[in-house]
Amino acid sequence: MEIVIVPDAAAGGELIATAIADLLTGKPDALLGVATGSTPLPIYRALEAKVQAGTLDVSRARVCQLDEYVGLPDGHPESYREVLLREVLQPLGIPGERFIGPDGAAEDIAAAAIAYDRQLAEAGGVDLQLLGIGTDGHIGFNEPCSSLASRTRIKTLTEQTRVDNARFFDSLDEVPHHVLTQGIGTILEARHLVLLATGAAKAEAVAQTVEGPLSALVPASALQLHPHATVVVDEAAATHL
Ligand code: GLP
Repeated sequence: MEIVIVPDAAAGGELIATAIADLLTGKPDALLGVATGSTPLPIYRALEAKVQAGTLDVSRARVCQLDEYVGLPDGHPESYREVLLREVLQPLGIPGERFIGPDGAAEDIAAAAIAYDRQLAEAGGVDLQLLGIGTDGHIGFNEPCSSLASRTRIKTLTEQTRVDNARFFDSLDEVPHHVLTQGIGTILEARHLVLLATGAAKAEAVAQTVEGPLSALVPASALQLHPHATVVVDEAAATHL
């Protein structure tokens, strides 16, 4: 595992956007796995700046989703599909036809999970998967005790994660209890994993991920199993290393 400590979130965003630009130079139709939450936003803004400056060509880039809430109606502004369309696809000028994700509004959620894993495989697999980390060490929505071999499936959110994510909704009651998430086994199939963690609230989860034992109690520690994993942390998130 490669650990990179940067001064702040903006520097982390720039560093990772540059790695994505390098990937797309060599493989213009690369499949880029994107994550939600506040942490990756500096990456998306740095990518947008590169597109505007003409130094990044995303005309063939493909994008896929890490996870999704279950039960939000199609087009709900806080569904992860809508968030990613707003924060990533539209600013970069990538059309929705080149964007795949799990269907959290499907009637048969179990079938939608299996279908998404198949879709990822048929797309040739993820070239670079961006990850954030929850305060409890979750990646995607794989909460503590998720199987390290898990596939895309329905999960129940912990109360802590619902509280953490309530800021995006009008009230805690509106935060869904269930989600579809790429499993840890699914995530580990991406060719390059890039986890960004910023701020003091993530320091303990980062230390457990990088220096703790491999454990289902800390889902992000599964990155220790991956041959090409990069963890980018700002100084505040690196204080327990
Ligand atoms: C959610 C997402 C994760 C994300 C996490 C942390 O739970 N499913 O992918 O990493 O939030 O979010 P933030 O970056 O806002 O702290």
